[in-house]
Amino acid sequence: MVETRDEQSFAEWLQDGGKVEAGDWMPDAYRREAVKIAGFQAILEVVPMPMFYKFMCYAPSFRRKRILLAKVQDEIGHCHITCRVLEDLGKPREALFQEYADGRVHLNYPFHFPVDDWCELPGMLLATNSAALVQFRSLAHGSYLPYVRALRKILREESFHFYNALEWAHELIKDGTPSQRTKAEAGLRKWWHIAIYQFGPPEGTVSGARDWRRWQIKVDENEKLRQEWITMMLPIFRSLGVDPDPRLQRAPESDGWRYSPLDWQHFTRVIREDASPYHTWLNDEFKRFLREDAWVREALDLTAAA
Ligand SMILES: [Fe+2]
Repeated sequence: MVETRDEQSFAEWLQDGGKVEAGDWMPDAYRREAVKIAGFQAILEVVPMPMFYKFMCYAPSFRRKRILLAKVQDEIGHCHITCRVLEDLGKPREALFQEYADGRVHLNYPFHFPVDDWCELPGMLLATNSAALVQFRSLAHGSYLPYVRALRKILREESFHFYNALEWAHELIKDGTPSQRTKAEAGLRKWWHIAIYQFGPPEGTVSGARDWRRWQIKVDENEKLRQEWITMMLPIFRSLGVDPDPRLQRAPESDGWRYSPLDWQHFTRVIREDASPYHTWLNDEFKRFLREDAWVREALDLTAAA
């Protein structure tokens, strides 16, 4: 346990591998950072619910419908687990969802792009789920132990979602009709180019970025995680017959990958302006769920409508 009550000494203690428990003393800035990262995750776990609900209504088989329902149930569970972490940090879930309802939480980049077809869904799930897995695995090495334990539990279920998406993509591509195959392959290609942004800009490309290293809650740089994701996912995409980026090649100087250039100005504009029709629909629907559907508030343990 940390013995200091000084912010700078606390930061140095973390750099030396110090770990924090819920009841330990921590500077307000550290608490804010933990709340920010865990709160963002808690919201992202459940905001896609309207999209899954829409697809559930026209799933082609009972089996697929049941799997989607189980996924939504898991995501609600992940939201609960993360909200418990937040509550121990002094952040009630009602306050978190109120901030979201008030438009004070900017959703991640992939939440601005629609899934247009059932056959596109496995591509979206495979790409974004694998990116989340890489991010969670890294966050599970952070300094705030209650969040680390929550992530370890969540990771096990997210791995199951990943393998489900892979099996589903495989089924459409190997056993689907020519039209299903074409749509599934196009979906994989489309979502590769969206998920690659999910890690955020490389260090130093955005002015005024937070010094995330200070608190050791997030321990790896965005570009390192992006490279890990490419290494992990490229063989999988290729095994499905999809070469997602013809410009991808090994970068011998860094033991990583060179990929088609990413437009970080566009990325920032998309997130800051939050103006895509799909993003507007998703937000409006989720806020309507929170306002009008008692079962959603019950499922999320929310006492009052946001
Ligand atoms: Fe999740």
